[in-house]
Amino acid sequence: MNVADVIKKFKDSTAVEILEYFLKEYGDKAALSSSFGVEDQVLTHMMLGIDKKANIFTLDTGRLHPQTYSVMDATNLKYDVKVNVFFPNTEAVEKLYKEQGINGFYESVENRKACCFTRKIEPLQRALSGLDVWITGLRASQSVTREDLNVIEYDEVNKVIKVNPLLEWSEEEVWDFVKEYKVPYNKLHDEGFPSIGCAPCTRAVNEGEDIRSGRWWWENPENKECGLHIK
Ligand code: ADX
Ligand code: SF4
Repeated sequence: MNVADVIKKFKDSTAVEILEYFLKEYGDKAALSSSFGVEDQVLTHMMLGIDKKANIFTLDTGRLHPQTYSVMDATNLKYDVKVNVFFPNTEAVEKLYKEQGINGFYESVENRKACCFTRKIEPLQRALSGLDVWITGLRASQSVTREDLNVIEYDEVNKVIKVNPLLEWSEEEVWDFVKEYKVPYNKLHDEGFPSIGCAPCTRAVNEGEDIRSGRWWWENPENKECGLHIK
């Protein structure tokens, strides 16, 4: 089936039905990238329920919160797996440090993008090389930059089929699932962090504020993508 046919076939399908298809068709050539945020935890639970050997990887930027490592550990233990980890290239991080210091991302958008490139994008490219399908926890209502995504689409940049099974889910639906199935989640979500990235670049938001307003809060909304998800 070509991508257009798959998109049509799964137009009205549930997240589980979509995952079942891609895991069956592509095996370990289909992988979830997980930041251990709540959406990714829902997908992890669904995927490991379908296939105990489902491919799940994370990008450990080296700047994550301790709470993120705790949920990573809890997830590995609960599901008896070891999520794959991609770390940044050592020499590239050393070079970045020499160029902009340890927290240079606060100084300019360019610095911030260079840090995201070294710590996330290059490892992501390594993780995606050899894969056919990239599964993510993106939701349309997370951000103005995510409103025109599709549940299934071809990612021209990374040359993979990109699958966003929770695209149309509300935040409430995500949390109802987590509670119903007792899915481990990052405790920072209880402390006002709806969206969690690296520790120095994420902060809590007040009730009613935009979900991603705590990410790179010193920048304008239109800059607030680290480059993981570009078209
Ligand atoms: S980001 O682009 O701003 O960092 P966000 O935190 O909203 O992304 O997460 C959106 C999706 O990107 C997640 O559901 C996950 O698929 C992927 N993602 C984000 N950060 C990581 C990470 N550190 N490791 C693996 N996947 C990630
Ligand atoms: Fe660097 Fe911040 Fe991007 Fe993490 S989110 S890679 S610390 S700039």
